[in-house]
Amino acid sequence: MPTSTDIAASIAQLRCEINDHNHHYYVLDDPQIPDAEYDRLMQRLQALERQAPELITLESPTQRVGAKPLAGFDEVAHRVAMLSLDNAFNDDDMLAFDARITKGLEVEQVTYCAEPKLDGLAVSLRYENGLLVRAATRGDGRVGEDITQNVRTISSVPLRLMGDDFPSVLEVRGEVYMPRVGFDALNKRQRDHGGKPFANPRNAAAGSLRQLDPKITATRPLAMYCYGVGEVDEQRLPTSHRAILACLKGWGLRVSPETDEVYGAAGCLEYYRKIGAKRDALPYEIDGVVFKVNSLKQQQALGFVSRAPRWAIAHKFPAQEEMTRLIGIDIQVGRTGALTPVARLEPVFVGGVTVTNATLHNEDEVRRKDVRAGDTVVVRRAGDVIPEVVSVVLAQRPNDARAFVMPTDCPVCGSEVRRAEGEAVSRCSGGLYCSAQRKEAIKHFASRRAMDIEGLGDKLVEQLVEVGWLNSVADLYDRSALPHEKLAGMDRMGDKSADNLIAAIDKSKQTTLAHFLFSLGIREVGEATARALANHFGNLPTIMEADEEALLQVADVGPVVVANLRAFFHEPHNREVIESLQRLGVQWPDVVAQKDLPQPLAGQTFVLTGSMETMTRDEAKGKLQALGAKVTGSVSKKTSYVVVGDDPGSKRDKADKLGVTLLDEAALRKLLEEPPNSSD
Ligand code: IVH
Repeated sequence: MPTSTDIAASIAQLRCEINDHNHHYYVLDDPQIPDAEYDRLMQRLQALERQAPELITLESPTQRVGAKPLAGFDEVAHRVAMLSLDNAFNDDDMLAFDARITKGLEVEQVTYCAEPKLDGLAVSLRYENGLLVRAATRGDGRVGEDITQNVRTISSVPLRLMGDDFPSVLEVRGEVYMPRVGFDALNKRQRDHGGKPFANPRNAAAGSLRQLDPKITATRPLAMYCYGVGEVDEQRLPTSHRAILACLKGWGLRVSPETDEVYGAAGCLEYYRKIGAKRDALPYEIDGVVFKVNSLKQQQALGFVSRAPRWAIAHKFPAQEEMTRLIGIDIQVGRTGALTPVARLEPVFVGGVTVTNATLHNEDEVRRKDVRAGDTVVVRRAGDVIPEVVSVVLAQRPNDARAFVMPTDCPVCGSEVRRAEGEAVSRCSGGLYCSAQRKEAIKHFASRRAMDIEGLGDKLVEQLVEVGWLNSVADLYDRSALPHEKLAGMDRMGDKSADNLIAAIDKSKQTTLAHFLFSLGIREVGEATARALANHFGNLPTIMEADEEALLQVADVGPVVVANLRAFFHEPHNREVIESLQRLGVQWPDVVAQKDLPQPLAGQTFVLTGSMETMTRDEAKGKLQALGAKVTGSVSKKTSYVVVGDDPGSKRDKADKLGVTLLDEAALRKLLEEPPNSSD
């Protein structure tokens, strides 16, 4: 029987170990053990604590969630006010800020600490003797709300500081936010359960922190980055902001790895652009960058104005959300006949461009958001993403706002609109009779990754379809349907451009089976599927006649693709177009059908990592697949071989750990040249 001292020692040891893993996982982003092993440690600790409940303390990692729901939040007075920041909206504002500082300090150049400006909520954490005793919102800067029990559920917030050289009272300030992936998953969960999704990660973070029941907060994927300190009882902190952040990091608090030191206005502007370029790739949302005079002595000399320090500024990025009026809801008909409701907007500058249209995705989405013509809406445009309507400002809805109804007939061709059961999309049933679908089908056919007809732009296709000279993709190759004079006479065309276009059309006649298949625009048949079909069957007639069973043999082809392929090739019109194209000279070499080749590597799974000398990874992949092997991106117990080139990534280590056989480039070449006999 273990004695109670044994149990106490094991508990202490386990807490230490778990805290250390937490720190690696949540703060350093560098997990040391698999999740399953972490779970086992937690279970062991829980079991021990059940045996000796008198040893349970609030700082135990098992006690992050435990408190009962609150009736309301208590008020917390901030002993050191939580200030706000002045904003700079352009380079000139930034230059003026730097000029004020250098003048005020009477120096040539100032050193700044540069940090991303996270889009979340400011939170203050109070540690006493290294233990988290209180967490509070900013509130009005002087008085906030006590959200201790909710913040305790955030894994990247340590319940106890690491080391022993921290001040006995240490108030840390930072931003609680919700990473994008977590936000998307949370919204999906909300939707699946019929709940209302959050408009953006910031709202989701705010909503999660204001839950009275910490068990709900615990399910929300929140994280925190620390960017400063409030009350500190002893003056033992370093004398620069950056050095203080380094201390916070040493005590186990999370500090943004983007934090940097920059010099003068030029350094600030360079940092602003660098982070701006990274903005959409960061795993969380930021709305700008913050510059803080690095020296605390200089900070003191500069002081404060009302609610913001003179020594710091937020240089904001263009807003990604703005309000505007929705004039009407139009319907766009896509290549596959999908009817997409599109919001026509009063022009608004958002995400760095002027937006006049925003997608509403589909009928259900319009209904869910309850978007009506005449409404004031919040429009979002982030990076290269298509602008979208996020929500309606209900308080500003006019009395005559009109609800949306999906048309029953196609607004372009008048054919019946159908919405298949279980599908979110309504489609025009007109097929290529519908000029909208025809335009899109031709644009797709001519696009770079399909038949690659240079110079056949979207506008030209639209015009040619509208005047009735281009009725099918076959017309492109038919000089009696579309002679030089007609092309030369179109807007922004001329003799020379018509010549060039005809040359490009002629050039596109020599293609590959995979490109041709892809260019037909069969629903769900993307580039990869087209390539798989071409390689598997080798020629078009076999694909056109293949039955369900044969098609299902192809890698990644499932019942939906099979149904689409069969329906497409069953349609006489489509067969005629294919025949015409071939008659007009479109051709490709047949390839040796994989299905007829021996598949000596069937059933084997390969992972490729690092670079090779004699072939690219894509080539190696193609060759392995041609021999029947499966090539995947991540190593697991099911992996048969990991091919290791130069500079291999972590996959090599993983293979080592799992005992998967490694092959170098020479061994791979040998295997490709002399594959094992399948009868071996
Ligand atoms: S410093 C005395 N640093 O921006 C300076 N704030 O507009 C106080 N924020 O309330 C704030 N990232 O919620 C600072 N790296 C950062 C920040 C940051 C985001 C937020 C914070 C603050 C607001 C001010």
